[in-house]
Amino acid sequence: MTESAPVDPTSTEGWKKLDGIAAGFTPDLRGWFDSDPGRAERYTLQAADLTVDLSKGLVDDEILGALLQVAKDTHVAERFQAMLAGEHINATEDRAVLHTALRRPKGATPALVVDGQDVDADVHATLDKVYAFADKVRSGEWTGVTGKRIETVVNIGIGGSDLGPVMVYEALKPYVQPGLEARFVSNIDPADIYEKTADLDPETTLFIVASKTFGTLETLTNARLARQWLWEKLGLTDASDDEKSDAVAKHFVAVSTALDKVAAFGIDPENAFGFWDWVGGRYSVDSAIGTSVVIAIGKENWEQFLAGFHAVDEHVRTTPLEQNVPVLMGLLNVWYSNFLGAQSHAVLPYTQYLHRFAAYLQQLTMESNGKRVRWDGSPVTTETGEVFWGEPGTNGQHAFYQLIHQGTRLIPTDFITVAKPARPLKDETGDGKAVQPGQDVHALFLANFFAQTKALAFGKTADEVRAEGTTDEAIVAARTFTGNKPSTSILAPELTPSVLGQLIALYEHIVFTEGTIWGIDSFDQWGVELGKQLALQIAPAVDGDQAALDAQDSSTKALIAKYLELRGE
Ligand code: F6P
Repeated sequence: MTESAPVDPTSTEGWKKLDGIAAGFTPDLRGWFDSDPGRAERYTLQAADLTVDLSKGLVDDEILGALLQVAKDTHVAERFQAMLAGEHINATEDRAVLHTALRRPKGATPALVVDGQDVDADVHATLDKVYAFADKVRSGEWTGVTGKRIETVVNIGIGGSDLGPVMVYEALKPYVQPGLEARFVSNIDPADIYEKTADLDPETTLFIVASKTFGTLETLTNARLARQWLWEKLGLTDASDDEKSDAVAKHFVAVSTALDKVAAFGIDPENAFGFWDWVGGRYSVDSAIGTSVVIAIGKENWEQFLAGFHAVDEHVRTTPLEQNVPVLMGLLNVWYSNFLGAQSHAVLPYTQYLHRFAAYLQQLTMESNGKRVRWDGSPVTTETGEVFWGEPGTNGQHAFYQLIHQGTRLIPTDFITVAKPARPLKDETGDGKAVQPGQDVHALFLANFFAQTKALAFGKTADEVRAEGTTDEAIVAARTFTGNKPSTSILAPELTPSVLGQLIALYEHIVFTEGTIWGIDSFDQWGVELGKQLALQIAPAVDGDQAALDAQDSSTKALIAKYLELRGE
């Protein structure tokens, strides 16, 4: 079933009300907190293990009520149910959107059957195959062609076939089996594969070629370079085809929806793990695309990871919109971007292990919601798709927070942290001044988290600056913080596999909420196609083909000519 026409959100009563509120809006977080002692408690919600405090957002009950009305009128809850049921809500590709099925528990009832396929059975058959393979690598039963156990797994993929696995691997490093390491090659810049393989032993290296389509230029080029590297380093460059393919069979596996293309590359389909066209690349981290991570952290941890996603899926499915965390966070984003003019959104994890989280979210959010037409092809009626960005705290504090605190742009922020550190350490000596001997360093770290959200919300008035002894009015102005900079605080007990799954699902459903309100298909990505097509057309020109060069526009032609000149060719 394809989708009905999207509702124009701007035509809803809630939207009109928000327009009116925004026209005379003067946020006053100090005043709101002073006059409403229950604000923090009322706006703090729970989704599985995630405690989410929305109270430092620029909202009050009236705004939230109107936003919720928009969600109801654009049928956010109904469309979520349609997604779970496998309706073809990816309208432009006429596909179901079923990443939520990747984490349904074994034996869930009733079984999910979509387009005649038992989706649950398919998902768990693949999971079992991935687990069995991962166990063999972890135990040393799977060896390279010379009989040595695997020590390094190199995932070759890009976009959703890279960003998810690398982010999760980095986040769950404390769960990685000692003696095993994963690396990730994505860029077609040959420097990437060169640097990632330079110090590797081919006898103990396993490559996973991860590509949904198995047609992506970067991934297939890197896969061929990896195969070439393997043959060369094993001394097989001039060996027989049989010897070469024996080496490939022991050192290459694949993850793809296109198993025929995997076989054509020379990888035994027995060593290929499938998934389905109803999983978008950027929603695929919990499919077989995560095989590198399953090898690194093992089946039990991966099951916990999936359970975390499912807990948040269930939260969204069963919780009224008024308490529904991803829906409310999506609605706040709509308020900030469509009514208050925010153009970007910063995600600031206060846990170093999440250092790739913002990069991961960039694809999830921007490839999903960076669209200018709706799912029926009509133009959108609002701005869509904020720019997501961020870096872990406290590093960001010493880089770009200045602009968030005192710049002229409104930048909503999400602060994410965990209570129990994976690596607790004490500063035994301290400096005797700011840091006392025996200081718990994680507590000091989190003091920064709390301080930043407080500073953003409440700022510092000119009078407070003067009261600290500043008398020069020019300096008073420079030292004043307006406050009223919105943040959402997300606190979890510990960065476990489950909590990580919960965080990812949280953002998947924030994206879903915003996309539904805007009426866009968050599951296609036609906008990446033109550049890919042109790269293939331009490649011969860059390689010196004069006719191809002559066919280019004058700027591109001149740039390529300069490139060739600089290379001395
Ligand atoms: O170019 C964008 C994209 O299609 C992403 O959506 C996808 O995650 C990535 O390329 C990689 O695609 P594949 O997994 O098919 O190699």
